[in-house]
Amino acid sequence: MRLSKKVIAVAMASMMMVSMTACGNSNSEPAAAPAPATPAPAETQAAPAETQAAQAEAETVAASVAETTGEGGTVGVCIYKFDDAFMTTYRNALQEILEGKGYTVTFMDGKNDQAEQNNQINNFIAQGVDALIINPVMTSAADQIIATVKDADIPTVLINREPTAEQMSAYEKLVYVGCDARQSGTMQGELILDTENKGDINGDGKISYIMIQGDPENVDAQYRTEFSVKALTDAGMEVEQLDLQRGDWDRNKGQEIAQNDLAQFGDEIEVVFCNNDDMAIGALQAIQAAGRTVNEDIYLVGVDALDAALNEVAAGNMTGTVLNDAQGQAEGAVAAMEELLGGKTYASGEQSIYVDYVKVTPDNVADFQ
Ligand code: BGC
Repeated sequence: MRLSKKVIAVAMASMMMVSMTACGNSNSEPAAAPAPATPAPAETQAAPAETQAAQAEAETVAASVAETTGEGGTVGVCIYKFDDAFMTTYRNALQEILEGKGYTVTFMDGKNDQAEQNNQINNFIAQGVDALIINPVMTSAADQIIATVKDADIPTVLINREPTAEQMSAYEKLVYVGCDARQSGTMQGELILDTENKGDINGDGKISYIMIQGDPENVDAQYRTEFSVKALTDAGMEVEQLDLQRGDWDRNKGQEIAQNDLAQFGDEIEVVFCNNDDMAIGALQAIQAAGRTVNEDIYLVGVDALDAALNEVAAGNMTGTVLNDAQGQAEGAVAAMEELLGGKTYASGEQSIYVDYVKVTPDNVADFQ
């Protein structure tokens, strides 16, 4: 077992060298791709005479690859869309870490289009990249993505949009690095429970809120929506949902939804839950335009701890946010990728690696700025 893993690592190490030279300047064009039609490098190393010598040499390389995996190699990174505030922070962190370790890395913008991202994944495979890091456009496309990378035998780290454990179990060289979105929802609820009136500003015995949701196809949006309210009801509070609308993680949509709700429900709104900070910043613009004051006559919470949100928390214009640790997740993703490159495989049910969320309030915001 061990030996065969090593042989695969050996083949990958030699492939790494080939692809490093072949793909030095490549972007998304597969034109100069080395042997795109042979997805199983370990088995395609035939020719016995050369094989033994090559294998002996490559074994030495493989050993050093396993120990110091940062020594070069090509990595293809697919981001669901570049134009996403949180994923921009995440992408920058990934780039710095990967390039700092000597990898040649290419980032592709999926433009929120799964068909486009599928092409990008296929192009990376044709180019012979050593590893893939993928932030899927649609969680529902996970089966197809996993089948594709499995077929090409490419170690793959999925990030930010978590598939089910069952979907991931189809491929042992695949792992998800992210956060448990339930935790962030619970923390949002706790931020409200920690206020002086536990979110019941008008004292009528219930917390009346609006929920501005991310893309509901995504578990982060589903769980944050569910668990933020669950934290309130678990604490024995009565709740009233005045509105729930999808803002697709987008600042402008957050602003529009909050503006319309404030016009419709006025002072009835005590809490504005936003599944992320970018929508919360948009909602804040609407709240201020409506003459309302956060932490006095309305509460506002987000998730991510974007710089802009940290500034608003510090200034008292947001009740709080929850750190979605882009740096920690990027470090975790690269570490997992290097383990995969070193030959590690993941058992079914153990393919999700989580980084903790952290509550951010005016009391500790300085630690994050
Ligand atoms: C973040 C959002 C981001 C989304 C993208 C979430 O974890 O909180 O800000 O838009 O991921 O998938």
